[in-house]
Amino acid sequence: METVLSIRQLTKNFGRLCAVNHIDLEVKRGQVFGMLGPNGSGKTTTLGMLMGVINPSAGDFSWFGQPATHQIRKKIGAVLEHPIFYPYLSGQKNLELMALIKEAPVANIAKVLELVELSSRKDDKYRTYSLGMKQRLAIASALLNDPIVLILDEPTNGLDPMGIAEIREIIKRISTDGKTIILASHLLDEVQKVCSHFAILRKGNMVHVGPVDDVGKGEETVEIMAYHDDLAILLGSFEGAMSVKKEAQQYLVKMKEGFHSLELNRYLFERGIVATHLVTQKKSLEKQFLEILAEADHAALTKN
Ligand SMILES: Nc1ncnc2c1ncn2[C@@H]1O[C@H](COP(=O)(O)OP(=O)(O)OP(=O)(O)O)[C@@H](O)[C@H]1O
Ligand SMILES: [Mg+2]
Repeated sequence: METVLSIRQLTKNFGRLCAVNHIDLEVKRGQVFGMLGPNGSGKTTTLGMLMGVINPSAGDFSWFGQPATHQIRKKIGAVLEHPIFYPYLSGQKNLELMALIKEAPVANIAKVLELVELSSRKDDKYRTYSLGMKQRLAIASALLNDPIVLILDEPTNGLDPMGIAEIREIIKRISTDGKTIILASHLLDEVQKVCSHFAILRKGNMVHVGPVDDVGKGEETVEIMAYHDDLAILLGSFEGAMSVKKEAQQYLVKMKEGFHSLELNRYLFERGIVATHLVTQKKSLEKQFLEILAEADHAALTKN
């Protein structure tokens, strides 16, 4: 797969504070890449360097295998913290101005407005827009150039659940369009829902990077309920069970590698038992995130 972004040993010091500490990263075409990390962990600083608004202290990065030039940056759209629009102009007029500045085709305006579902409100003044609409207009503006990569810094910050869901849908739509997306977020649930890959920053250090699909791999737990007096014994003698635990009304069966709910269900069914409840628990990204950070904390403590 084609490498879109390659970061090597990228570092940013603000005086004595090391905001980003020698990070390496590769983003491939078509990935939706989530950058996670607590407040102050260096997400915005990293994105700022990638966008050329913050000068790195050391290290470098390349887009599409080339150093970041003005020409290359045109292939990258970004929504950084506070987008600036004219309050007394309509969304349409604001985008027309942006298209002029970015030398983007005016013909793209209708398309991007449609994509962020603002077509019906395009002639209303920007100042009358809700926070969610403002954010959507910022995304539309970033897409005017039809960029290959879209960078978003906390795209759902301050939005209500509806607004968050709308942005999430838009991100999915943009990625289905074939664009590569890099987004910073502290909403783990959101990253799990929209991202294909993620990295975790902690105090400027990258402490994890990998596919979202790998989260919780290799340790599946199945919740099961069935009417049968000897259920516990039966579950215990299932060859795929690593352990069986009773929790409230249900049993939790921790599965051995390679065994899933299907085999468990079949095993019970063959013994004349029909489960009334059968759910595979997947470890949440949130849980994994907290574990990775706790491990990193522990490693930092034992090092000192
Ligand atoms: N211009 C600056 N001058 C000095 N320190 C800065 C500057 N910008 C950021 N920092 C510091 O760098 C560190 C990383 O900040 P950054 O904004 O990148 O974190 P973040 O992960 O985006 O946090 P958040 O989740 O709150 O947005 C913080 O300690 C911050 O105080
Ligand atoms: Mg930030």
